[in-house]
Amino acid sequence: MIQSSSWARDTREAADSAPPAVGIQPAPELSIIIPTYNERGNIPIVVDRLRASLAGIAWELIVVDDDSPDGTAALVKEIGATDGRVRCIRRLGRRGLSGACLEGMLASQADFAAVMDGDLQHDEGLLRPMLDLLRRDAANLVVGTRYAEGATAHGLSSRRARSSRIATNFASRVIDLRLSDPMSGFFMLRRAIVDRFAEKLSTQGFKILLDIAITAHDDLRIAELPYTFRPRHHGESKFDAGTALEFLGLILAKASNDLISLRFILFCFVGATGIAVHFAVLAGALYAIGLDFIWAQIAATMAAIASNFAINNALTYRDHRLKGWAYLGGMLGFYVISLVGFASNIGVADWLFINAQKWWVAGLAGALIGVVWNYVVASLLIWRTR
Ligand code: GDD
Ligand code: MN
Repeated sequence: MIQSSSWARDTREAADSAPPAVGIQPAPELSIIIPTYNERGNIPIVVDRLRASLAGIAWELIVVDDDSPDGTAALVKEIGATDGRVRCIRRLGRRGLSGACLEGMLASQADFAAVMDGDLQHDEGLLRPMLDLLRRDAANLVVGTRYAEGATAHGLSSRRARSSRIATNFASRVIDLRLSDPMSGFFMLRRAIVDRFAEKLSTQGFKILLDIAITAHDDLRIAELPYTFRPRHHGESKFDAGTALEFLGLILAKASNDLISLRFILFCFVGATGIAVHFAVLAGALYAIGLDFIWAQIAATMAAIASNFAINNALTYRDHRLKGWAYLGGMLGFYVISLVGFASNIGVADWLFINAQKWWVAGLAGALIGVVWNYVVASLLIWRTR
């Protein structure tokens, strides 16, 4: 008896305060995807601003967090506990801005999806005009640009602004882009586009928009809206030289019609640095230490392989980076693979030289076989990208 009346009071109380939403709810119209790495200080402000500027719109926020050490994911879930529009995808053992954005958009079931930074650099006031353009079907991709008339990029350091401009010029020269700010991390699109092209998009690097613009090129009707790029609020930027290099790699890969993958370009680039290391160590060992040539050559080879491994681990395979014991094991494996690669390089070159009699054909083919072998086997067995 007592139990049932207290149960009745509980239900009455629950009904008096806002009733929890039960039953069928349609997906919101707009998903906002925010990739985060250590943005704990910014997230509550971002959410407040979204609430304010999207009043009257059915929206949701999907934060895609790469297990930030500062506990961003936990904070997002805490906010989501009282506001179901806020959700978090917590990814383990993975890093990468593009991959995070892609995963967020693939988790959306809304008609429209937006991607935005979590550090308050992007102007949330632009979301509503972006959505208007998409609703009217005046475009199927709307990009927030820092470089069109009416826009400013105060938030970029002058060095960043300069390199960003150079990269943009370079990109529009190599491929037909139709974007004034191809590196913008702020855009909204009809979500179905992402579903259609998802398999072709790279998960590496910062360049998700550029990748979409190139991959879905013929299907896109692009509109641009200028905005003011603000300085970062809390925390620090994760953009570094590696990110910039990835961007160039993506352009080259796309310009070659995907014949050459971004990873392969980086791998070749690292190979070239290995040659420099080789000659530096060789010269040092011969002249500074006075080793015999054969020992100097062996030392140089070993040093070049170790340096290639370290740089590849930090750059080419940064999304599959090895640490601790796995690093040591990977290094040993890389030695074995490289030495086999070297042997096949010599074997092929020697055979071709005898049969084709052109030294440069033989040399080039040998080097190519060596690098392709190293790349394929290292990708499969050491960094396990598949
Ligand atoms: N999940 C995840 N994983 N998020 C990341 C990662 C990552 O590895 N790296 C960065 N982020 C998040 C940040 O937490 C932030 O919310 C957003 O991605 C942008 O990162 P920033 O580190 O603030 O980049 P930025 O301001 O230097 O770069 C801006 O300009 C670039 C072009 O110049 C951004 O707008 C980029 O999107 C843009 O490409
Ligand atoms: Mn930023």
